[in-house]
Amino acid sequence: MQVHIDSILFPTDTAPEAPKDTTVSDEVEFVSFRGLVPEIKDTGYLTHAIFAYPAKFIPQVVRYAINTYTKEGDWIVDPFAGSGTVGVEAYLCKRNAVLLDLNPLLNAMMPLKVYRGKERLREGVLCQLLADMRESAHRFTPPWSNVAYWYAPEILAVLSQYWGFVNSIDSGVYSAIIKSALLKVSKRFSYTEHRTPKLARSKRKLKAIEELLEENWQEQLEKMVYSLSLKTLRALNDFVMHTQQRESRCGDRSYQHLGQVEFHGGVDSSYLAVPRACDALITSPPYLQAQEYIRSTKMELFWLGHTEAEIREFARLEIPYRKADRLIHTETLDKIKAALTREDLQQRLDSYFCHTLNALENSMNCLKPNAAACIFVGNPRIDGITVELWRILAEYFTARDFVFEKVYEDRIKTRQLFGARKNKNPDGMKSEFLLILRKNAIDQTSVLQRGPALQDGESLLPVSRTSPDSDAS
Ligand SMILES: C[S@@+](CC[C@H](N)C(=O)[O-])C[C@H]1O[C@@H](n2cnc3c(N)ncnc32)[C@H](O)[C@@H]1O
Repeated sequence: MQVHIDSILFPTDTAPEAPKDTTVSDEVEFVSFRGLVPEIKDTGYLTHAIFAYPAKFIPQVVRYAINTYTKEGDWIVDPFAGSGTVGVEAYLCKRNAVLLDLNPLLNAMMPLKVYRGKERLREGVLCQLLADMRESAHRFTPPWSNVAYWYAPEILAVLSQYWGFVNSIDSGVYSAIIKSALLKVSKRFSYTEHRTPKLARSKRKLKAIEELLEENWQEQLEKMVYSLSLKTLRALNDFVMHTQQRESRCGDRSYQHLGQVEFHGGVDSSYLAVPRACDALITSPPYLQAQEYIRSTKMELFWLGHTEAEIREFARLEIPYRKADRLIHTETLDKIKAALTREDLQQRLDSYFCHTLNALENSMNCLKPNAAACIFVGNPRIDGITVELWRILAEYFTARDFVFEKVYEDRIKTRQLFGARKNKNPDGMKSEFLLILRKNAIDQTSVLQRGPALQDGESLLPVSRTSPDSDAS
């Protein structure tokens, strides 16, 4: 049964509800997703590693959820899509995907990560463009009042020329490839520590740039643009080969028909209805602490032309750094809040659960009956108290339209948070959990719409200004 967009509704918090069985089984199944999906040997395979992004999914988790809880042709929704791992895996597995994320970087990443061209890209064309770039008279400086603070003047001049060139040519796949390389190079040749997520001008990096300026820095910069661009082009060619080979093996054109990946970067999932009925949700919500995705990618967003006002607006809507507009109660959450003595941390929890649940609920309301919601979370600690996220989510949703199916626990060995930084226990987590909930039949009379629906092809940039807290300071 198709659920149409005008009937995708949301539960009211005040509506009287029949008591539901909210028992959550304690049985956790220990797994290693890397072990369960041995066909994926490298987390950065095909196009997964073209862009750096904080706290990416490992593709094995997504592949496992896709294989176990969906079938060919299904639609999968991810309201916290980040760098689009779910989109890539969905496409490779002949599923369709709707991706939403507050960070507009998603819009720059997806056309390369799910490249739909059928022909191999030509290295000669790319090399000619890179040669033209060196001679270009075009200039682009990001709309960032502070830009001079982050760059040596001579480096900024060269970057402005290269970005000016790439913005002046048509927006085909070759210019997108060069942009992906320039994003990395622009960070590497700045004063910010490129190995830590947040913008930070360190003494170490200042010294490194000073030393570089005494060497053949321009040659090194160009070399890096060339090698990263070529690496990306080759990743795209591998992607083309992989999907075309599978198509010809299967004797049909199914990737072209099945693999639709819609992406909407720059939207607030907390106040947005999903535009279609979906067969599964696969997502990993933001961390409770310590990760600021907009701030981490601010430099990239400026180079992509976003203004200071837009970036401020995105940062203000980021979970969990915004006001809660309703209070969430579950047995486990209430116990944690009662044990917390610091008011600021209680507010952090209120904000986190309000907006994370708003966003999950918006997407989960578009799920068809019996569809699975697969939610990947950690077990962060706040003021020494462990917050069992999966249990709180399970308690919340089993009191509504979902039944608890199971929870997998994967012990973390290493998890790459950003660039080359390996972090064994981000947020003090030792394990990560994949919670599986199953949707009941929908009682459409008890639900109420929480936000505007995205129309197909509609651009919501800048982010929806109609969300209730958009006037807050
Ligand atoms: C754990 S990351 C998701 C990473 C993703 N699974 C991947 O593989 O790249 C959580 C994401 O939530 C997004 N986010 C935070 N607040 C949001 C909001 N209000 N609406 C939509 N997305 C939001 C962040 O931008 C971030 O990309």
